[in-house]
Amino acid sequence: MGKKLLIKKERKVDAEGRKIVISRFEKHLINDDKDFNTQFGVIKKNNLKKSSVKVGKEEFFVLEPSFIDYYKQIKRLAQIITLKDIGAIIANTGINKDSIVLDAGTGSGGLACFLAMIVKKVISYDINDKHLEIAKKNIKTLNIKNIELKKRDIFNNKNIKEKNINIFILDVTEPWKAVNTAEKVLKLGGFLVSYSPNINQVERFVKALTDKFLYERTIEVIEREWAVKEKVLRPRMKDIGHTGFLTFARKIKN
Ligand SMILES: C[S@@+](CC[C@H](N)C(=O)[O-])C[C@H]1O[C@@H](n2cnc3c(N)ncnc32)[C@H](O)[C@@H]1O
Repeated sequence: MGKKLLIKKERKVDAEGRKIVISRFEKHLINDDKDFNTQFGVIKKNNLKKSSVKVGKEEFFVLEPSFIDYYKQIKRLAQIITLKDIGAIIANTGINKDSIVLDAGTGSGGLACFLAMIVKKVISYDINDKHLEIAKKNIKTLNIKNIELKKRDIFNNKNIKEKNINIFILDVTEPWKAVNTAEKVLKLGGFLVSYSPNINQVERFVKALTDKFLYERTIEVIEREWAVKEKVLRPRMKDIGHTGFLTFARKIKN
């Protein structure tokens, strides 16, 4: 069994000089070994081998799914980091196929799964069994092999044996408590990145950085999507607002 991505464009008709939406945009990630029911009729599994299928007046395009199509479907128990913030972490640290990442907490495994597609290995810690269980399922669904999940308290560095880590990413409410762990695990020149929704968390984290770290910068990534449709050309009303601040520091001393 495999998966297919079914996409249907919005369909409009002209009515007295105005365009009226007859049916909306749809996107479905579906199993290719079963018929698929739509509100317009059934798409037979044999038709999923074609590049497009007509159902009544509607046309569905049949595509091979990409990683991002699967990623958007992962189960979420804890809040996952947004794509815009993941993008900024990658761009500001330059992590790549040779990097080893330490990630805490795992949460639903959103960040760990995305980074695993880019880096050599992700080691991800959480203290919560339920979160680790969801993350494990998500990793399996995405068929990712280079993530190691560990149940550990990131604030207690006695239990943490990793060394020579290229980037250590914190998404926990009290990141300042993990600075000692960061000193121990990071290689010289490695990045410590903290993601926090509140600026008072950022302040406390930056104050906690020891002389082994160079504080680089704190950023907030603001993404504004625009509606681009005929006469409607403006920022979309339903924008993602504030998500969090990203703070970057580098280890400069052993
Ligand atoms: C917001 S979630 C992380 C989401 C994750 N970055 C993602 O993109 O899916 C925060 C997680 O940190 C975990 N956590 C909190 N304190 C921790 C600690 N001291 N050590 C390890 N994990 C911790 C929580 O159990 C929770 O699962």
